[in-house]
Amino acid sequence: MNYDQALALLKKNGQEQVLRYWKKLSAAERKGLLAQIETLDFKAIKYCQSVLASRNEPPAKKGKPTAPKVHELKGKLLKEAVAAGEKELSAGRVGVILVAGGQGSRLGFDGPKGAYPIGPITNAPLFYFHARKVLAMSVKYGHSIPFYIMTSEANNAATEQCFEEHGYFGLNPQDVVFFTQGMWPGMTDDGKIILDRPGHIFMSPDGHGGLLWALKARGCFADMKKRGVKTLFFFQVDNPLVEVADPAFIGIHTLEKSEYSLKLTAKRDPHEGLGMVVKRDGHFDMIEYTEMTEEMNTRRTKTGDLYFKFGSPAIHVFDRAFMEREAAKNMPLHLAHKKIQTVDEKGNIVKASEPNGWKFEKFIFDCLPDAKGVSCMAFDRAEEFSPVKNAEGKDSPATCKADLQAKWSKWFPVPPALPLEIDPAYAINAADIATNGILLQAED
Ligand code: UD1
Repeated sequence: MNYDQALALLKKNGQEQVLRYWKKLSAAERKGLLAQIETLDFKAIKYCQSVLASRNEPPAKKGKPTAPKVHELKGKLLKEAVAAGEKELSAGRVGVILVAGGQGSRLGFDGPKGAYPIGPITNAPLFYFHARKVLAMSVKYGHSIPFYIMTSEANNAATEQCFEEHGYFGLNPQDVVFFTQGMWPGMTDDGKIILDRPGHIFMSPDGHGGLLWALKARGCFADMKKRGVKTLFFFQVDNPLVEVADPAFIGIHTLEKSEYSLKLTAKRDPHEGLGMVVKRDGHFDMIEYTEMTEEMNTRRTKTGDLYFKFGSPAIHVFDRAFMEREAAKNMPLHLAHKKIQTVDEKGNIVKASEPNGWKFEKFIFDCLPDAKGVSCMAFDRAEEFSPVKNAEGKDSPATCKADLQAKWSKWFPVPPALPLEIDPAYAINAADIATNGILLQAED
């Protein structure tokens, strides 16, 4: 794309301010800016503008939310679910999706969040625990499990490098598919694209809901079809306790012929920051924790339990065909008003002291109301959920390491003062320890 073509395209879309500093730019900056303009998706930008323009309108009225039915799997149903899940895994119909495109700003870690060192003894990164579980499951069920990892432009190279440096954590590189999510430009109140440097457009990742677009645009659906993958296990990068491709969860999803299934856990307190699955107007829906009212957070049943008791740790199973269907639709957009660096009339960079621009994000769970079947499965959080979100306090590296050790020491009791770490490729549960025995490795 040359300058004239870029100008014509921008004019057609009312965005010619993007080239206002052209004369001041170096050759390299001009090249970079033209490359950015070439990637802009004006259809998506128009959609963002229309949502932005209607931001002050009252939201569409929705029905009264009620708590959904949640399976607490045990006995015969648990056995049947495990058998059904194991059948899918052995037949190679399962793939794993990790969303790792976020910026991890709350943790204050400079790098992809998945590279954060979390192993209590080895300092192994979050990615190690995820990848070694994928490996363990593929060995156990005698079939490779493709591992799809969504990154963003900001962290893709560093993510791939982390995998390369660690020999893909033992996985076959052909079974690890990195793909980048979309990036959208930030906009002013009136829908104009923001420059954060004279020759650079401010772009930000389009949210984990961008997964659907990215799976399609980056050829992942085609790859899944080629491999015969029909069911996708989805999780977030911050939780090293997750039971990757849990057969019981995949099994209940399969038995109930669901299109979207969710693991849910009892909230540790009424205000814990977990999304809430509800039913309304005959459909399932998710209310994000920031949108729950105080009344909803604290409502109790006659027996004293929280009425909206189960939160979502963002562990899902999807039907591939459902994801493909949803990828063809526009998802709802969530607007965030942010402080975005800009450029003044003279071309000087200005740091914003107040929110001055908009970022746009899609959330994967917004496709929940469209799912024809939904299964909700409760689980014990001590076994499967301890995310690393904050640098200190709740949901921090310290609490996560303690929870990892507490989980492992149930399989292999050690005195509390003794650090313990178990490679998931060696054992993913107590039964594996009983079968394999334990190899003790002393620290040097
Ligand atoms: C998220 C969920 C919340 C859930 C909680 C469980 C949202 C909006 N909320 O909250 O319902 O109860 O986790 O821990 O997701 N990501 C991308 N691309 C993006 C943005 C995020 O891949 O553009 C990924 C991140 O890398 C991460 C995951 O999505 O793996 C969640 O993002 P994060 O911002 O940490 O969500 P939370 O606010 O913690």
